[in-house]
Amino acid sequence: MLRRTLFALIPALLPVLAAPGQAQAQGEVAVYSARHYDTDRRLYDAFTQATGIRVRLIEGNADQLIERIRNEGANSPADVFITVDAARLARAKEAGITQPHGSAIIDQRVPAGLRDPQGHWFALSQRARVIMYDKQRGAPQGLTRYEDLADPRFRGQICVRAANHPYNVSLAASILAADGTAATEAWARGVAANLARPPQGGDRDQFRAIPPGQCTLAISNTYYLAHFGASESAADRELFERIGVIFPNQGPNDRGAHVNISGAALVRTAPNKANAARFLEFLTTNQAQEILALGNMEYPVVTGVPLHPALVAMGTFRAEAINGDRLAANAAEALQIMQRAGWR
Ligand SMILES: [Fe+2]
Repeated sequence: MLRRTLFALIPALLPVLAAPGQAQAQGEVAVYSARHYDTDRRLYDAFTQATGIRVRLIEGNADQLIERIRNEGANSPADVFITVDAARLARAKEAGITQPHGSAIIDQRVPAGLRDPQGHWFALSQRARVIMYDKQRGAPQGLTRYEDLADPRFRGQICVRAANHPYNVSLAASILAADGTAATEAWARGVAANLARPPQGGDRDQFRAIPPGQCTLAISNTYYLAHFGASESAADRELFERIGVIFPNQGPNDRGAHVNISGAALVRTAPNKANAARFLEFLTTNQAQEILALGNMEYPVVTGVPLHPALVAMGTFRAEAINGDRLAANAAEALQIMQRAGWR
């Protein structure tokens, strides 16, 4: 009853909150998300403010959420599926839980290279997977490509997390797509031989091990380091200043640095399809993109949105084109190759 009373009162306020020319909708949108960042809650609040549509958030691991939506079948309350990693978005599509969003706004806002060709998902944000080094020791010579990480001159120097993390699986899957099976086997054996220690921890723990001398090179996503640059702690900012970033594969004929995206999809059985469409389009607005870019230090997918200064400090780069279906198709083989090579 209280809710009914509130709704009766809200319309008087809505014209103030609504974007000009937009009809005011009510109700909710159910978002199943495998992203767990505080920034996302601010994003959903901003959507509710702009539209009056409440966001019902169900969080979980990507594969579990895909399974859950599949099991819920036609009765699933899920409207939108959000996750990190293009391969997992492609798996959601393959599992039959998504449908084309059909939005001309999304197609116009998000570059084609950051969308599923059939419209089943699109990227909301991106992060590059880069090589990090100790500026005090200087940039490592001859290290400009992911492929160079296998060079015996870097024996005992590399810190990287476990092979089975999706960030590494997708990186190896992209190398497999570019270089083929034999070269990827050789690459993985070379990297495994160059590890400074058995893989442990998350991305942050890799570059954190550089100053104490546990390793001289680390593989990490950009936003983890950027968070240190934006930290309140002087020690964190000092670490940020000390770590150098190499964006790999930047040569004129090379494929560009591997980026990992977060993306969203319209669920095939979405009960609130109109609200879901508004939510998905909202994700591509400058307002939403700025919340993602400045809040979680990711690269936006639309132009004209400012980057966080910590990302600007890392420099510019060219990104590899994303083929979610191919990353998904290569994932199992890529993981087997890494594990066979002794990168556990
Ligand atoms: Fe992450």
